[in-house]
Amino acid sequence: TITPVILSGGGGTRLWPMSTPVSPKQFLALTGVHTMFQLTAMRVRDRTRFTAPIVVANVAHAQIVEEQLAAVGINDAILLLEPCARNTAPAIALAALACPDAETAMLVMPSDHVIADLAAFDAATDALLPLVENGWLATYGISPTAPETGYGYIQLDAAQAPGVHAVRRFVEKPDIARATEMIAGGDHVWNGGIFLFRADNFLEALSAHAPDMLAAAKSSMALATMQGHRIYPQLAAFEQCPSDSIDYAVMEKADRVAVAPVSMGWSDVGSWDSLHEIRDKDGDDNALSGAVRIDASTGNLVHADGIRISLHGVNDLIVVANGTEVMILPRGKSQKVRDFAKD
Ligand code: GDD
Ligand code: MG
Repeated sequence: TITPVILSGGGGTRLWPMSTPVSPKQFLALTGVHTMFQLTAMRVRDRTRFTAPIVVANVAHAQIVEEQLAAVGINDAILLLEPCARNTAPAIALAALACPDAETAMLVMPSDHVIADLAAFDAATDALLPLVENGWLATYGISPTAPETGYGYIQLDAAQAPGVHAVRRFVEKPDIARATEMIAGGDHVWNGGIFLFRADNFLEALSAHAPDMLAAAKSSMALATMQGHRIYPQLAAFEQCPSDSIDYAVMEKADRVAVAPVSMGWSDVGSWDSLHEIRDKDGDDNALSGAVRIDASTGNLVHADGIRISLHGVNDLIVVANGTEVMILPRGKSQKVRDFAKD
């Protein structure tokens, strides 16, 4: 079996005004009735294939995590509640230390991605498992569609097994020139942000490349308190963890890294524009949610929460209303949200 680890600590400001620190992206129902976090947990609910999941989240989100899991009938999760945010590498270190069996493969997943083709995802996991059991660190590769600078890039080396390549190098968040060059080369995929490795192998890589982080994570777990299925790592020790992502702290430096290039309808839903791309649309290319009236309009994304929105004769807009905030942007300009979200 595989132990799912769901990372749920992100603050996600790129989907403001829906996503806020109190209610970040992963806890919102942006693509249908379930939230992104619920969809992530539901992907790994087959208990013949997966153990109970470990959810790593900020302590402030303990209740929303429990409520959202209960609402979809998942009652066996272990909650690892971070007392402060230290990015993904320390979060995964806590999970590796909490794994019931050090030789189990951990499937580490962000809680805010869309994967449309679950069968393709499972097949990639199956293809990676034999290498992972032999000590490799593995990730899932996505075909790049643009020189995005917010992703990790993976250069493929020789095939190791059907559907699996060794990684020649891993480049986290390149600048635009480098990203363009890598895409032109044709032998790079994006890092999907999903990882598969044995807990002991990840901890070994941490001890080689980030020993201070490992030491701090270990002492915060040694001093952790438990309450039912909740684990509270100790604050003073966890604060000593350097803040770093798994990509910079481990993946760029590790040996024996494998990647399964997979076409699984992946999106990290990083902007309102990407949400328009993946959402179901009406015959006029409008993606609508909440109380929306619209006619003689095409290509819009309209999301209404707690208020009704009426549109006529407008095209290619992003219109989002939540509580006391209304935001209107042309499609293609959703990066502007970062500025709005600041205050
Ligand atoms: N528990 C916990 N604690 N989770 C965290 C923390 C933390 O301190 N920080 C981030 N996360 C969660 C986020 O909620 C998200 O689900 C996931 O970890 C990844 O973090 P991001 O901050 O979204 O990473 P990124 O998007 O910049 O980059 C990663 O994902 C890309 C694909 O979406 C990298 O792995 C890239 O290489 C990759 O291409
Ligand atoms: Mg992300």
